[in-house]
Amino acid sequence: MSDSKVKVVINGKFVEWEDAKVHVSTHGLLYGSGVFEGIRAYYDPAEKQLFVFRLKEHVRRIYRSAKVLKLKPKPGEKELYDQIVELLRINDYKTDVYIRPVIYFGEGGIGIKPSKQSTDYFIFTQEMGSYFSSRKALNVCISSWTRISNNSLPPSAKVTGAYVNSMIASADAAESGYDEAIFLTQNGFVCEGAGENIFMVKEGNLITPPLSADILEGITRDAVIRLAEDMNIPVIERDISRTELYTCDELFFCGTAAQITPIGSVDRRTVADGQAGTVTGKITDAFESVIRGRDKRYLSWLTPVFPQVIQKAV
Ligand SMILES: Cc1ncc(COP(=O)(O)O)c(C=O)c1O
Repeated sequence: MSDSKVKVVINGKFVEWEDAKVHVSTHGLLYGSGVFEGIRAYYDPAEKQLFVFRLKEHVRRIYRSAKVLKLKPKPGEKELYDQIVELLRINDYKTDVYIRPVIYFGEGGIGIKPSKQSTDYFIFTQEMGSYFSSRKALNVCISSWTRISNNSLPPSAKVTGAYVNSMIASADAAESGYDEAIFLTQNGFVCEGAGENIFMVKEGNLITPPLSADILEGITRDAVIRLAEDMNIPVIERDISRTELYTCDELFFCGTAAQITPIGSVDRRTVADGQAGTVTGKITDAFESVIRGRDKRYLSWLTPVFPQVIQKAV
């Protein structure tokens, strides 16, 4: 289905794609004062079912982000959750899908401080396969741009305007021939990718920067930690220095868009043999089973979109 045929939710109303428009005086557009989520749903052709991955956690996070900006969303958490599922059902996807809810200060005046603006929201969806065009382990660089910090523009909230920091780093990396950029924090430690959390494998341990390193508290990051622990792979959250990335055994990004994506080189220094390593492979396989509903231990992470057919014994 082409995106122009799908419906979009605007302030609770299901409208046609071409009618999904905002006014030029929208505060969220003028100043980036919105918060958003990126959510994926995975289609299982065998079960003819679309599973939304960790929808509750994504909805909870957009409300946490809204609180940081003092946005007061019109729908309650349950209402937003239900509208996302309803939208996917109406749009009748038979493919993997990306879902983008945005809550923002609406139209009115040019004052920087929101005053009479209402809090508006929309939800749109689009088909989405792999995020990175490269099918191989990525070639990434350390960005010359520093990550925004908690005392300037909190990276722990998914604020629309904050993604200019990501955009500029990612676009510059692409222009220099890299697949993605890695940010360092203002203290010079490894932070995250432009839209991904990062994990390194060193001597059998899975190591990732802590929440205090100005990262987004990724929902996929949490899934990776839980899957690793269930496979008895030790997980350590600690500061990582740039040069450790050059010499580690394995490196990968994770995120809703990126899923699990191996990194083959950093600043043109090959990581190990430049291919996805053993631990990365194990995590990728485990993650794939979970998101497609094949690993029944994690079914509580999935929200089925279509009514489930109960098989009757004959
Ligand atoms: C800056 C940043 N870091 C990390 C992530 C990964 O987070 P999640 O796994 O919740 O999608 C994202 C994507 O949302 C992101 O934009």
